[in-house]
Amino acid sequence: MKLLLATGNRGKVREITEMLRDLPIEIVSLREFPHVTPPVESGKSFAANARIKAETYFRQTGLVTLAEDSGLRVDYLRGQPGIFSARFARDGATDAENVRKLLRLLRGVKTGKRTAHFMCAVAIVDGKNLWTAVGKCKGRIAARASGRSGFGYDPIFIPKGYRTTFARLGEEAKNKISHRARALRKARAILERLLTE
Ligand code: IMP
Repeated sequence: MKLLLATGNRGKVREITEMLRDLPIEIVSLREFPHVTPPVESGKSFAANARIKAETYFRQTGLVTLAEDSGLRVDYLRGQPGIFSARFARDGATDAENVRKLLRLLRGVKTGKRTAHFMCAVAIVDGKNLWTAVGKCKGRIAARASGRSGFGYDPIFIPKGYRTTFARLGEEAKNKISHRARALRKARAILERLLTE
């Protein structure tokens, strides 16, 4: 089975490919479809945006499509940046700009008030059905950035039960406990069912 991974984010592609590595699936990414048109991500939730992306790319490629939408919700900021995580600092912002803005907004905020969680919604479309699965990972925002692995807010996110950031823990540890890992574990069951049909 060919599966289109409907994201251009290298970090996401790397993590999802690794998580589905042992399934007999050929994973292709959007890089192999340079002419497809991305949708406007107009949904009000991670799940709605994942659904919009999966449906749009299925329509244009005819391939079973897995899309995901994810982001960080910081309690002190009443859930911000949420679905706007990728463009928190500005449209087309770099990860470093987003991290800097978040640290600035939390300057002086005490450790106990820096709680946050990552959310990930995965949608799979095969032309007949649409499935969604979500995953959550609780933690807190560090006082400063540290570590080099991963992407996005990984240098400032300390998962619950740990003392250091995702970016210092490394990809293998992150991929066991992350919001994406949790959503993908559920999505896997759907893919396994599709493979037996
Ligand atoms: P999306 O492409 O609209 O889903 O953007 C998700 C954004 O949320 C990314 O660009 C990151 O800024 C952030 N994000 C989502 N998942 C992660 C993660 O696992 N680590 C760090 N940042 C993440």
